[in-house]
Amino acid sequence: MKGLSVLGSPRHNGNNALLLQEINSSLKENCNIKLDKIEIDNLDISPCLSCDYCKKNINCTIADDMIKLYSKFDEADIILISSPLYFNTVSAQLKAMIDRCQALWANRFVLKKPLIDPNKKRLGAFVSTAGQPITNDRFKYVTSTLDLFFKAISADYYDNFFVGNIDHKPITNRPKIISDAYDWGERLAQELKRL
Ligand SMILES: Cc1cc2nc3c(=O)[nH]c(=O)nc-3n(C[C@H](O)[C@H](O)[C@H](O)COP(=O)(O)O)c2cc1C
Repeated sequence: MKGLSVLGSPRHNGNNALLLQEINSSLKENCNIKLDKIEIDNLDISPCLSCDYCKKNINCTIADDMIKLYSKFDEADIILISSPLYFNTVSAQLKAMIDRCQALWANRFVLKKPLIDPNKKRLGAFVSTAGQPITNDRFKYVTSTLDLFFKAISADYYDNFFVGNIDHKPITNRPKIISDAYDWGERLAQELKRL
């Protein structure tokens, strides 16, 4: 079993990093998974140019790290994305990655030549933290972006792990949240075994 874990925060020791570390170790301890861990800002990913190359040709015309990521999405059984909430959506680094998945959408639905296997079962899961407290609509907008992203990579959007009030109470001071993150990883592992 293979997994891809993507840190979308530019803070490599921040709140998302800590949560992801906990969830990654829980996944590893609870199912036999080979996890590929990626810090998105270490990759070279240009924004989509809307050039329509992908409506006429397989793949994307921009030759950067996104090409490798398409294959990683294809091979993964679980794709775990984490992001701090920035203006109600994901970080800009992660948004560039998501927009580049337009090539997957166009290859599959316009060109009818999917770049990644649309019939393979994949789980999509999302971790996000907000500086402000959780309200009914705090994560409403970011989840609609993630919903389209997981559709583009042919993954089932399984679940979210959200934490609010981060700017007043960082994760390091919240042991209960850390153990909840571990338990959530365990649930992901159980679901993976059912794939
Ligand atoms: C550019 C920027 C935009 C932000 N926008 C929001 C926002 O819309 N809502 C919110 O609750 N917090 C917002 N925050 C606070 C971050 O979500 C918070 O600091 C983050 O969750 C910390 O995660 P990290 O330590 O993993 O980077 C923003 C912070 C930055 C730097």
